[in-house]
Amino acid sequence: MTYVVTENCIKCKYTDCVEVCPVDCFYEGANMLVIHPDECIDCGVCVPECPAEAIVSDTEPAATDQWLELNRTYADLWPNIIARKPALPDADAQNGRQGKLDEFSTEPATQNDIDTKHEESVSG
Ligand code: SF4
Ligand code: F3S
Repeated sequence: MTYVVTENCIKCKYTDCVEVCPVDCFYEGANMLVIHPDECIDCGVCVPECPAEAIVSDTEPAATDQWLELNRTYADLWPNIIARKPALPDADAQNGRQGKLDEFSTEPATQNDIDTKHEESVSG
């Protein structure tokens, strides 16, 4: 069993979830995080922390095969994230918007992304 990050994380990436994970099993893409299914210990503490309600248990219908596969795939490709940072600049407007899967980025987060986002969120 594992927990999985689903569509509403895309373009929000609040990162509150990483602060509470006891095993640091979140991985960071350009516009979404994923959970490594082999590292997650099913504690569930990240679920209420997510302002986008994007994290679900794999026992729930929202954890479709598509999301399970996406989390597994990108957890192996993206860098680990262990500390909270500013959400994406447009996060509150993107929270709850439908159809975000089409805008999912396969790119890993880069240091450059992180600095740019931070500046935008500070100045914007
Ligand atoms: Fe981490 Fe627990 Fe959430 Fe799994 S359920 S990702 S172990 S906080
Ligand atoms: Fe994404 Fe929610 Fe974490 S929006 S980054 S799963 S707090």
